[in-house]
Order: sequence, then C-alpha cells, then structure tokens
Amino acid sequence: MSTFKAPKGTYDLIPPYSAKYLAVRDAISGPLRLSGYGYVETPGFEDVDLFARGVGESTDIVTKEMYTLTTKGGANLALRPEGTASVLRAALEANLHKAGGLPVKLWYSGSYYRYERPQKGRYRHFSQVGAEAIGAEDPALDAELIILADQAYRSLGLRNFRILLNSLGDKECRPVYREALQGFLRGLDLDEETVRRAEINPLRVLDDKRAEVQKQLVGAPMLRDYLCDACKAYHEEVRALITAAGVAFEDDEKLVRGLDYYTRTTFEFVHDGLGSQSAVGGGGRYDGLSEMIGGPALPSVGWALGVDRTVLALEAEGVELDIPPTTSVFAVALGEAKPVLFGLVTELRQAGVAADISYGGKGLKGAMKDANRSGARFAIVAGDRDLAEGVVQLKDMESGEQGPVAVADVVEVLRTKL
Ligand code: HAM
Repeated sequence: MSTFKAPKGTYDLIPPYSAKYLAVRDAISGPLRLSGYGYVETPGFEDVDLFARGVGESTDIVTKEMYTLTTKGGANLALRPEGTASVLRAALEANLHKAGGLPVKLWYSGSYYRYERPQKGRYRHFSQVGAEAIGAEDPALDAELIILADQAYRSLGLRNFRILLNSLGDKECRPVYREALQGFLRGLDLDEETVRRAEINPLRVLDDKRAEVQKQLVGAPMLRDYLCDACKAYHEEVRALITAAGVAFEDDEKLVRGLDYYTRTTFEFVHDGLGSQSAVGGGGRYDGLSEMIGGPALPSVGWALGVDRTVLALEAEGVELDIPPTTSVFAVALGEAKPVLFGLVTELRQAGVAADISYGGKGLKGAMKDANRSGARFAIVAGDRDLAEGVVQLKDMESGEQGPVAVADVVEVLRTKL
C-alpha cells in the first residue's frame, strides 16, 4: 500500500467493477443519442458565481457543499457541483441557441463534486449522466426526458424505481404560494435554522425529513392549489403524455428539489433499496435560469442521473449486467513463438477481436493461468515445433478441445467462431 489513500468521501473505480460504470453510462446515454441529443463536455470548474446565481445563494449546494478556490491570478472558481448551469453557460457562450432550431438538445457525462457528509450513496466525488433540452417550452419535451430516463433504467434491468412528479409553478403563481406558505410557517414552532430557511426558501421546509417538522406541516397550503391556469394545463399535458407512453409515475406535491432554478415540471427517480440516499436521479424545467446567468429567455428542461447510485440500485435488486469478457482470445507463446503470436494478436485486434497475450517470459503453466484469468473463450498456444509446422494450437477454453490451425488462417477461423 502507498502512503496515500483516496480522499475522504471518494473511491476509486477499479476493474472488473469499473466495467459496470461504463455499462451504466452507456445505457443512460444510449436513448439520448437516439433522440437527437448531442454530446457536450465542459470544464470541471467554473466561475463560482455561475453556481451562486444559477443553483441559488440559499441552497445547501452553494452555501455548504461547493469546493471553491482562488487561483494565483485571483479568479474565484468552484469545482462543479452539478452540470445544468455549466451546460447552459456553454450553450450560450457558443450561441447554440442562435445557430439552428430550438431546442438545443445536449447530453453529458462526468464527475461532480459536493462537500457533503459522506455515507453510502453520498460521495464528495460522484458521476452523473445528464441531458438538457434548451430553449423550448413544450410539455412533450418534459415528457420525452422522463420517458428516456425510464427507458434507460429499464434497459439496465432496474425495476424497483419510482418516478415522483410535481409542478413548482412559474413566476406568476409561485410567489403567491410562497407568501401563503411563509404565513403558515411563521405560525409553527420551528428551530432557528428552519425559521431562517422558511424566510429564504420556504418550499425547502416542506422537504424536511424530520417527523416533528412533518407533523406540523399537516394542513400547510399546497402549491397545487395555487398553480395558475397555464401551469395547470402544462402539467396536465406532461402527465397525459407520460401516461400514454405507459410510464408509471406518482404525483408528489411535496417534491421540492435542492436547486433553486426549477419552475413547473420537477421529478425525481427514487429507488427503495438504497436507504436514505434514495434519489437515483432528478431534474425538471428551469425556464428562468438563462436570464439568471445573463442570457436571453430560454425555457429549458433536463435531468441528471447519478451513476454511483444507479450501480448501487442494480446491486440492491441483484441485477447482473451482461458485461462481455474483456478478452476473447489469449495467446500463450512458448520458446521462440512470441513474435509470431504477438503479430497474430495485433492482427486480431485490428480485426476487432478482443485479444491479449502473456507477458513476462512465463512458462506454459503460468501463461495458461493468465489465459484462464482473462476470461478468454479461446487460447492460441504455440511453441517452436508448432511454428516449424506452420500452425498454432487453438484451445477452446470452455470445452477444453484443442487442435492445430494454420498460422495464416488463425484470424479468419477465430472471427467465424466468435
Ligand atoms: P441533483 O438531484 O442534485 O440534480 O443530482 C442528480 C443525481 O446525482 C442525484 O439524484 C444523485 O443520484 C446524484 N448525486 C447527487 N449528489 C450526489 C452525491 N453526493 N453522491 C452521489 N450521487 C449524488 C442535479 O444535479 C441537476 N443538475 C439535475 C438537472 C439537470 N436538472 C435539470 N437538468
């Protein structure tokens, strides 16, 4: 072991386990790539104000969880705690919203950083795959995103997840509700921090998990009763489209997300096998974010699914992903056969066959152990005598059958067998 360890709240992804993460990222991005979303990549850090203004000055993410730093040049940066603000910033900077038709549909995959108290499913470095559809107000777009996430989870074999859906209203109706809720909260017996939260971000109080708070919230005004007609109609259309697609969801009028930019549609994917960190993904509409970061009005919607928690959810359900062995053919070279087999392995790789070879001058026993460990379906074994006859021994690692194949035919024979 070295003197160093992975920092608190982080962990390394190492083979073979890491293959699951690649498979999950592929499964989540697959439906997006088939639906007009283009890949976007942004820096791992941004101007701290992008998140302060975008995600919200009163959110835990901004006040407690950001990794901030000042550069030697005096710039104030933050490691990105989420992707939406960055992706929108990049789209605006590249004028994507002016380049072609709207919406601009983008997907991304990467590392995010939050200084949170680490526990199972909650890390200081985690990864998300996300999607943002920028510049269109259309219930079908909200529905599309929810349906695509559902499709991604199902393609992985996940079954025990639920979709929670809510509408947070817009700039017309939410302020009226906010005031009504604040009036109600002021009459409760709450601790100092919660009283403060009620003044800054009263909707977050609804999300308080403590029983003594929840007890007092019975009878609180609900946003549903304050939604304006436009928000109500919009939400009904989203619900109808998801229902028509056969995607089950639950209306959750207490669903408030931990980021301030949401308007109207909000949703969360929760998995019941994960304990307290049950949200595997979440998202919603953020019609005002562009203006909040200095852009034009660009109503948008998106989500991010947590890769770490999706892997945990798969494990909780006992789903084994169908991950093919990394190596299909393993070469074992004896005597002077190394250059010939090395050449064959290169040819196999060029022909698209996953191939590897034993390194380090091992004898037959050691090299065959390598072949077994690799999970390869076939081994090609050759020594001086085989090469003198122009053949290699092809061994089927499942049946144990073995026989000579002419060196010139090896690649073709293996391609047909695999
Ligand atoms: P979020 O709900 O903060 O939303 O994060 C999305 C997902 O990232 C969570 O559901 C969870 O799976 C994962 N996640 C968040 N924090 C952690 C953590 N500390 N450890 C492990 N996993 C974590 C957003 O980030 C929004 N940007 C989503 C969005 C996109 N909204 C609109 N567009």
